[in-house]
Amino acid sequence: MKRTCYIGELNERHVGQTVTLQGWVNRRRDLGGLIFIELRDRSGVVQVQVEPDSPAFAEADTVRGEYVVEVEGRFQPRPEGQRKGGTGDYEVIASRVVVLNRAKTPPFELDKGDAVAEDLRLKYRYLDLRRAEMTRHLMLRSKAVAAVTQFLDASGFVQVETPMLTRSTPEGARDFLVPSRLNPGEVYALPQSPQLFKQLLMIAGLDRYYQLARCFRDEDLRADRQPDFTQLDMEMSFVTQDDVLEVQERLMAHVFREVLGHELPLPFPRLTYREAMDRYGSDKPDLRFGLEFADVTDLFRGGEFAAFADAGTVKVLAAAALTRKQLGELERVAKQNGARGLAWVRREGDTFTGGISKFVGGQTALLLERTGVEPGGTLLFAAGEWRAAVTALGAVRLSLRDLLDLASGGPRFHVSWVVDFPQLDFDEDSGSWTYMHHPFTAPHEGDVALFGTGRQGEIRAQAYDLVLNGYEVGGGSIRIHDPAVQARMFAAIGLSEDEARDKFGFFLDALEYGTPPHGGIAWGFDRLVMVMAGASSIREVIAFPKNNRGADPMALAPSPVDAAQLAEVGLQVLGGE
Ligand code: AMO
Repeated sequence: MKRTCYIGELNERHVGQTVTLQGWVNRRRDLGGLIFIELRDRSGVVQVQVEPDSPAFAEADTVRGEYVVEVEGRFQPRPEGQRKGGTGDYEVIASRVVVLNRAKTPPFELDKGDAVAEDLRLKYRYLDLRRAEMTRHLMLRSKAVAAVTQFLDASGFVQVETPMLTRSTPEGARDFLVPSRLNPGEVYALPQSPQLFKQLLMIAGLDRYYQLARCFRDEDLRADRQPDFTQLDMEMSFVTQDDVLEVQERLMAHVFREVLGHELPLPFPRLTYREAMDRYGSDKPDLRFGLEFADVTDLFRGGEFAAFADAGTVKVLAAAALTRKQLGELERVAKQNGARGLAWVRREGDTFTGGISKFVGGQTALLLERTGVEPGGTLLFAAGEWRAAVTALGAVRLSLRDLLDLASGGPRFHVSWVVDFPQLDFDEDSGSWTYMHHPFTAPHEGDVALFGTGRQGEIRAQAYDLVLNGYEVGGGSIRIHDPAVQARMFAAIGLSEDEARDKFGFFLDALEYGTPPHGGIAWGFDRLVMVMAGASSIREVIAFPKNNRGADPMALAPSPVDAAQLAEVGLQVLGGE
């Protein structure tokens, strides 16, 4: 290797030495007869100066942006006043420049990367990834993988790979299907998660398992979702929920320490699902800031304000002074999230004005006491059925965070647990019960008796989510290991014995051969890295992601396939082109 070191490793020790560097031309400038080349590799940028009488001049004169070059020269401090910190404090006076390869003019300016249309960046992802920010993201991700592996290996976890070509694994999304040539008319499903396989590994006696597992879910895309994403998937035998959470906390603290040098305070706070929804209107509350709801249902019950009088729940948020425009924006958010409107009042002295103030007169003192609203501040109300009311106000709370930059006053990272999710969720559309986490999640032992009663909505699951800065970065549960409880769960979600056997017969068989108590969790690894990197989308921390239409503009996937290839797998396309 000719290279002395990476550019980012150059320092005071190299001053006065002749160094050899290899990389890309970030920029070339000509000034006063000199050629300046900003040379870039994955670790940094340094300025190379080529003087007119240098033997390197003729070759240097041919270089353009993104050419691949090798530079040899003397490493020296830049003149006082021109130092920019780091390698920007130094320059290389070239004695030799060799063009290793030429490059076409890039389709976008790399240092304007952020402002470039995303599809263009994705089409030329290999150029986009040359940008320092993107390289930093991928290196941070690699460090996080190393930290996780190091911790779990040292803690007795065994890394096992599970199949990609398998059958449907229920995580609530649609499957990606892969037709089988050897079994025409039959399909594999790509795994939505390795859930059943990791449970089978516990039945097999592996005791502690982990895997950085690719998962595939055909669902609507958002900034924190990809159809093809990575979980850090774990499972443990002979554990309780507390055992799982304790290991997870130490693992998370280890990752933040190793990757960012950041200490997370332990233990992470725990909120029940009910508390999280009741106080913050979200099952993944951003707790970097307060802005907790107050409950004022009782103050309006049976009162003169019809919209609140018979509402199941009335919640209120005490915000700062807000402009009309801001109020309008927040109302739009509340409506988008299922509210009919967003009632408000403004505190003036010890009374309320504006909005619905004429209806709150009698309750002024109690409202002041319960909300603690500052003079000039605004109260924002949501009323309705409990879940609808808190969810709408929860969305308003997050908009206030963004409008007023509330999170910047808090810790850089806030991690918490949300526990005791409901076991079952009532789906209004189909009029039936469904699972909230997945159908293998164990209920609280004391709640099992509620299956099949009118109170099955009250069954609490031994399920937990890991929440970081308002993102769900992990979810898991203690699993059902008793076939009788599994049968009650299937019955509750309206799955007949035959249907259950048809879907997961192999797994139900396995449950009967000595299943240890077990539980686990999966981290959304891309989401975690996104928050750690301070990025706004998981696409920024995935080397080759899909765009928001689920397509890869570079490889042009998905793509049509010719009839012969389809025929081989026994398929024919109906409709479309
Ligand atoms: P769950 O479905 O909650 O649980 O997924 C675990 C975590 O994976 C992340 N995640 C995603 N990340 C990016 N794109 C997506 N489309 C996507 N979907 C989910 C989230 C989520 O918290 N088998 C269970 C885990 C278990 O019970 O152990 C499971 O998959 O961060």
